[in-house]
Amino acid sequence: MTTTETAAAEPALHTITLTVNGTRHTRTVEPRELLVYFVREQLGLTGTHVGCDTSQCGACTILLDGIAVKSCTILAVQADGAEIKTIEAYAEPDGTLHPIQQAFWEEHALQCGYCTPGMIIAIDQLIRDNPNPSDSEVRHGIEGNLCRCTGYQNIVKAAISAAAKIRGDAPFEKPEDELMAETH
Ligand code: FES
Ligand code: FES
Repeated sequence: MTTTETAAAEPALHTITLTVNGTRHTRTVEPRELLVYFVREQLGLTGTHVGCDTSQCGACTILLDGIAVKSCTILAVQADGAEIKTIEAYAEPDGTLHPIQQAFWEEHALQCGYCTPGMIIAIDQLIRDNPNPSDSEVRHGIEGNLCRCTGYQNIVKAAISAAAKIRGDAPFEKPEDELMAETH
């Protein structure tokens, strides 16, 4: 094989720079690399899940320039220069949960947890668009995110509870009597 043939067989690489969870990263990627694999494999942020690869399940949802997107539908090169937030940046550095995470815990809104990072980010988008969503508005807002465990009811309750916490209409901490009941 000649040098020219070898070069033609190799995909051209691109250097991209993204800010992910507040940190700038410059990496070299193939033009076909999906953003979800860039986040998981190049940056090691495995909280972003792959459930289908065909834009059905929403497990790969992240915030791209503040908008919830399915990261399996975007090439890494298309995100060059973007700001990304993944589930790893939702809790505070001291471990304090984001209100949506807190509500998921309180309302038992997860079982296996595979869908949960994508659900939380989709609900974050939903609540920012609509701070006081109804049951049906939550269901509409998460229709692109599939959960095979919970039956969705507790996820909807968690979203409504999280919205109330973010509005300041509900306590952030789990009520003490509920905690007591769980320990007895
Ligand atoms: S992995 Fe992206 S939608 Fe399922
Ligand atoms: S908690 Fe298992 S897929 Fe949703």
